[in-house]
Amino acid sequence: MENNLEEFFAVSLELTKKAGTLIRERLNEKKTVETKSCDIDFVTETDKQVEKLLIEGLTEAFPTHQFIGEESVAEGAQCSLTDDPTWIIDPVDGTLNFVHGFPHSCISVGLFINREPQIGIIYNPNLEQLFTAKKSEGAFLNEKRIHVSDTASLSNALIAFENGTSRDPEKLKVLLENYKALVPLTQGMRALGSAALNMAMVAMGGADAYFEYGTHIWDIAAGELIVKEAGGVFIDPCGGEVDRMSRRFLCASTRSLADELSKNLVQYYPMPRD
Ligand code: IPD
Ligand code: CA
Ligand code: CA
Ligand code: CA
Repeated sequence: MENNLEEFFAVSLELTKKAGTLIRERLNEKKTVETKSCDIDFVTETDKQVEKLLIEGLTEAFPTHQFIGEESVAEGAQCSLTDDPTWIIDPVDGTLNFVHGFPHSCISVGLFINREPQIGIIYNPNLEQLFTAKKSEGAFLNEKRIHVSDTASLSNALIAFENGTSRDPEKLKVLLENYKALVPLTQGMRALGSAALNMAMVAMGGADAYFEYGTHIWDIAAGELIVKEAGGVFIDPCGGEVDRMSRRFLCASTRSLADELSKNLVQYYPMPRD
């Protein structure tokens, strides 16, 4: 399995870098944009092409492996995590940023085996930031080891959060309540517009925690391993274990910060698709 993991990593990394050129070259071009669940939930030709390139390349190399890809699921593919090796792909995380030319978007690729993360790759080709992790081998940014911060309390913390592209008024209300409560308790709040890149920030110590209600498994699959391998915690916003299909999570540099954040959050439970 260890040898296989090296091969899985090498092949997925090469494909991710290749796909990254599509995002980088087109960042400032006019895109072909369609909408999905609402008027700001975009998908571009590039999202579809990146996903196709990755799934075709990985299928050729590893014909028995399974896939969960955002745009394939949008077109009716299954979204189920089994014990089989499963690649979980977000071809462009931060599509809204990509459409605008705001350079915080990335490819997120995670490999799960027996329902546990084994490989995580988050690649922002616009800023040449490559975050990687293999199970039990640490987390890296452009091949240099990264660690979460040692921040243990909200009063010392920079916290990332997002609303996502949902227009649900109840969700927006909870977001604003949490923002209002957390601004005076923390050193600041940030929203990069990419779940995976927010998680990468926590992993490298640039942010101390991040929570979101409404994420899908492809938003967080690679980030989970990268945060954990950088020494961070990955839990449900209530404080317990994460159900990866629950569309809610919290990650933080330390357990003490995670617990304090969790206690101060208004909780929200997204519907399976909103
Ligand atoms: C979205 C981004 C956004 C987050 C949303 C995600 P997409 O992913 O990560 O920052 O708030 O929850 O759906 O649609 O750009 O891949
Ligand atoms: Ca999307
Ligand atoms: Ca995403
Ligand atoms: Ca996406």
